[in-house]
Amino acid sequence: MSNLVDRLTSLARSERAFDAAALEVCRVLRAEVPHYNWVGVYMIEGADTLVLKAWDGPQATEHVRIPIGQGICGLAAREAKTVIVDDVNQDPRYLACFLDTRSEIVVPIFTGGRVVGEIDIDSDRPGAFTLEDRKLLEAVAEELGRNAVKPPEPP
Ligand code: SME
Repeated sequence: MSNLVDRLTSLARSERAFDAAALEVCRVLRAEVPHYNWVGVYMIEGADTLVLKAWDGPQATEHVRIPIGQGICGLAAREAKTVIVDDVNQDPRYLACFLDTRSEIVVPIFTGGRVVGEIDIDSDRPGAFTLEDRKLLEAVAEELGRNAVKPPEPP
């Protein structure tokens, strides 16, 4: 796991544009962790909308824009904390995307102490997400948060 953390954090902080780095992170997370079935990165645009910037999974989601008041994604952004739902079918806040999803983790991305986006992962296994997942994803989110703010290009 520590190799994976190193690989992902260096991808997340790479010099490339944020969306490209986020896409690479989504791909590697999904390829390397068997219980990550769909992986996405949303960023906040305007005052209160999460917009899907990158994802990897078997199919696209219809939820490409999520108001911060809605869903598990909205909850994690509003409360600025990681949310784990062990059984999405028992959680009325859940916005359904995929029939096979049984559990979900949403990890906020912070820049300068403010939530600017989040990593959202769906698993087909109930109760798939542990403290180990949370630590991995919070480390990746921290680097994505650094990457979200780039110094201006030199003239
Ligand atoms: N399930 C999320 C919506 C996004 S999809 O999982 C890709 C939610 O409840 O906010």
